[in-house]
Amino acid sequence: MLSEVEALKVKALQELAAIRSGEMDGWRVRYLGKKSRLTEVLRGLSALPIEERRKVGALANETRQAFEEAFAQKSQSLEEARFSAGALTEAIDITMPGRLSPLGRLHPITQTLNEIASIFAGMGFTVAEGPDVEWDYYNFTALNIPEEHSSRDLTDTLWVDWEKDKRFGLPLLRTHTTSVSARVLTYMKPPIRVISPGAVYRHEATDATHSDMFFQFDGLAVDKGITMADLKGTLYEFARRFFGEDRQVRFRCDFFPFVEPGVEMAISCAVCKGGGCRLCGQSGWLEIGGAGMTHPEVLRKGGVDPDEYTSFAFGIGVDRLPMLRYGIDDIRLLYGSDLRFLRQF
Ligand code: DAH
Repeated sequence: MLSEVEALKVKALQELAAIRSGEMDGWRVRYLGKKSRLTEVLRGLSALPIEERRKVGALANETRQAFEEAFAQKSQSLEEARFSAGALTEAIDITMPGRLSPLGRLHPITQTLNEIASIFAGMGFTVAEGPDVEWDYYNFTALNIPEEHSSRDLTDTLWVDWEKDKRFGLPLLRTHTTSVSARVLTYMKPPIRVISPGAVYRHEATDATHSDMFFQFDGLAVDKGITMADLKGTLYEFARRFFGEDRQVRFRCDFFPFVEPGVEMAISCAVCKGGGCRLCGQSGWLEIGGAGMTHPEVLRKGGVDPDEYTSFAFGIGVDRLPMLRYGIDDIRLLYGSDLRFLRQF
């Protein structure tokens, strides 16, 4: 038995020395495991005659210790080899370009809003914001929209199920950013030049050209002696800066309760340049919003004396602008979250 253990020791240590990597567990199970020959010998010691037991026991224990030490040493040297310079250049090609983490970007609507703000900043306008959940008062009453007006109809407006306020009425999701202009009139003193960009909400079915949430920006200028010519000049300048020098603008009479006179604003079609095509319905013009001279009653409600000050106002749909510029034919693309679409901007 002594010679068997001797032989086992030589064989095991030779095998261990030959191991390159990955086979360490197998070796440990084979030579140090519960079912290994060495463990068997150690367990069987008590059955041996005393003399032999002493000798075999000493050798077996010494062998076991030698195995454990050799195993630990080998494990460490394999580990070191794995991280040595030579091994590293084999495993990793350090000349390979690194992986770039993807860059975020601004949503096309946000980009458009920023561009609008900077164009109007060039004309002396600052930016105001108001709440998306608005009072009836600022969305309607302050804007000269009487109780029985059709835009208060429950089919248009999303009302918030809350207590009615004595002064401000019921809360609702604002149907236009003109509500912010109403707030600006109450909170700021003239001269005023402000644009108010933001999301608006309507109880409306969604299709290629309609969405129940979309973006608008309203403009408001209040000062002594402001005329319709200032309004036209401002909007004309905006259209040219946003769409290009060759753009034409058209104003036609329209009705909005908060302006008098009121106009609808159109720009010459981006695609046919006025000749008539599918995008503009053969008319050569694309409507982008409404405008007018602020109604005296609206100024009065906002605490501004209409005999002293005059004012113009306008409201423009934001979604249409990138849609026209990039030829996007479905508004749902803008408000979906499909990154394959959004990454293009
Ligand atoms: N609030 C109107 C809408 O959503 C747009 C509008 C028209 C805004 C005329 C104005 C304005 O400020 O003067 O349809």
